[in-house]
Parts: sequence; C-alpha cells; structure tokens
Amino acid sequence: MDLSAWWRSARPWLFRLDAERAHEMTLGVLKRWSALAGGQLGAGDVARDSGLARERMGLRFPNPVGLAAGLDKNAEAVPAWQALGFGFIEVGTVTALAQPGNPRPRLFRLPDDGALVNRMGFNNAGAEAVARRLRRLRERSVLQVPLGVNIGKSKVTPAERAAQDYRRSFEWLGELADYVVVNISSPNTPGLRDLQRVDEVRRILTAIQGPNQRFRQPRPLLVKLAPDLAEEDAIECARAALDGGCAGLILTNTTIDFSGLRSPTAGLSGGLSGRPLFARSTAMLARLRETLGPEPVLIGVGGIMTPEDAAAKLAAGADLIQVYSGLIYGGPGWVRELLHGLPRTAAR
Ligand SMILES: Cc1cc2nc3c(=O)[nH]c(=O)nc-3n(C[C@H](O)[C@H](O)[C@H](O)COP(=O)(O)O)c2cc1C
Repeated sequence: MDLSAWWRSARPWLFRLDAERAHEMTLGVLKRWSALAGGQLGAGDVARDSGLARERMGLRFPNPVGLAAGLDKNAEAVPAWQALGFGFIEVGTVTALAQPGNPRPRLFRLPDDGALVNRMGFNNAGAEAVARRLRRLRERSVLQVPLGVNIGKSKVTPAERAAQDYRRSFEWLGELADYVVVNISSPNTPGLRDLQRVDEVRRILTAIQGPNQRFRQPRPLLVKLAPDLAEEDAIECARAALDGGCAGLILTNTTIDFSGLRSPTAGLSGGLSGRPLFARSTAMLARLRETLGPEPVLIGVGGIMTPEDAAAKLAAGADLIQVYSGLIYGGPGWVRELLHGLPRTAAR
C-alpha cells in the first residue's frame, strides 16, 4: 500500500470529521488490515536497519521509535503498528475494570499549534478483555517487536485502594507484556496525578512486585510521569520508582499548561500533547538523565513532530522514544520518515 498517497487524499477528509470519530475510523482500517494479513505483517526495510537497533531492559528493539500509550488502548491493531515501522508498541492505558471514559467530545485538534487536547479518561475494555486479545497474539507468534502494556487506576476505585487496583491489572496482563508501565500521570482521572508521591509510588510498586517477582522472568517496570511536576518532586518520584525496582521512566505524559498557544482554548480542558509539549518534556528528560546517571532506561515522549525532534530527544538522554500527536498530523508513512531521518549508530 502507498501510504503517503493514501494519506494525501484521506487527511483533508479525516480532518473535517470530529477528532475521535476520525481516530475510530482509522483504527478500524488498521484493525481490518491486521486481521486480513492474519496478523503476519512484518516491518522490513528501514524499521529493521541494524544501525537503529538497540538492547534495553533485556529486550531487543529493532529501532528506537515506539507507539505511545493511548492510541491503541485495547490492543486492536498491533500487527498494523508493527508493519508501519514501529520498533515497539505500547498498548493501554488499561484499567482493572472496563470503563467508558469521559463524555464526548473529549479529543480536539489544534492544527495551528500542531497539538491535541484530550480528556478521554481511560476509556478501555478492561484488563481481562485486553489480556484475552494479547494471549491470542502471543499464541500466533505475531509479535516481532517488544510490546509494552500501560496500566492505570480504574475510575471507581478510591485512591486508598489504588495499589490493589494496579496489582489486579498486572495479574491479568503482566505475563503477556514485555514491559509494564505504571501510569500515574494522566490528567483525566480525578486524583490520579496525586499518586506521583514517594509513598504512593512505593505502595503501588510493592503491590506489583509481589506477582512480578514470582515470574520466571520478572517483567521490566517503568513509571510514566507528568511534565507538570516540580523538578524536585519529579526527581523524588523517579528515585522512588528506581528504588522500587523499576527499570526506568517514561517522560512525559500530556501537560495541563495551555499557555503560549495560538489556538483559542477557552472552555477546553484536559491534557495537551504535540509540538507545544516538546520543550517542557525534553527539559524534564534531560534533567532526570543528568540527575540519575546513565543506568536507568528513559523513554522520551512529547512533541516529536520531525526527525530533528526525534534526534534531539535521543540527544537529551532518551534510550528510546515514543510518538502520538506527530502520527495524527503526519499520517501512517510518517514513522518511516522519522526513521530515515534518525542518525545511525553502531548497533548498541
Ligand atoms: C488522545 C490521547 C490519548 C492518550 N491516552 C493515554 C493513555 O491512555 N495513557 C498514557 O499513558 N498516555 C496517554 N496519552 C499520552 C501519550 O502517550 C503521550 O505521552 C503524549 O501524547 C505526548 O506525546 P506526543 O506529544 O507525541 O503526543 C494520550 C495522548 C493522547 C493525545
């Protein structure tokens, strides 16, 4: 399929639709594409260029560009993401209980800023249903790239039972994941970001490490943080995560700071992603790399819209990077454009 030609004709039409409707239609196409090929879609060419491969957390990443959480919450189109060239795929956020998320509209494009605002609220099919889907993928040996599963707290679970809720999701999904992300940074579940405190991080990780350490091969864990944390708080949380046995961090989630945008945002609420997030999320990544040293795995995400942005994120200290908004604006062929523009290194 000539993805660039398809995107040139489809984009104006998709961008006239409500943003979530366009997302659902595109995901529907990718889902059918995944099913048609029997799930056996390989990545090939630039996505497997050995100069881009790297090993982290005991996993081999054919290239460092991953799909960020939130685009395929229920793991419906995993083979298609692989075929588009992603070097790893993160599904979720999945919660222990299935939930509908916030009322619509809840996803908005700000094209003048190259940005999105969302207040989805962890709409997802729940840990059990996603586990069933992932088990089928595993049984068919479809996956050629690492698969991360991002877990969050169910909305109805009170804050004081958060650790048990994460543990329940982990018990369904941990075994099926190559790595697991503890998401405590979405702005769209009331109180979730309050879990970004040392005692809460410890409690959640202790709850998950119980079942994790019983696996023959415990899964690498990462914590995903918000870019709005004060520097000292981010460092404290990061240290608590690493002390709790995490392999690293994902930096960052969306921001609630809408300042400096060209687009009118009166009445908009939620998390901002895309170009305006780049500087803030990259500064946090650089600061944490400087503070934590070379050992922890840092996955850089936020505002990557061009190959230069991707290279700058890696230069700021990211081992791996992820994208979401750039893909919405750039279309399916954009992943390969990023990969073509990345500096090659000796495989490491
Ligand atoms: C519509 C939408 C939904 C998202 N849902 C999730 C989610 O469920 N879990 C999560 O950890 N991050 C979620 N994110 C955040 C992204 O994973 C990413 O951290 C953020 O968008 C910054 O990257 P970007 O600037 O490349 O979009 C979502 C982002 C968007 C735009």
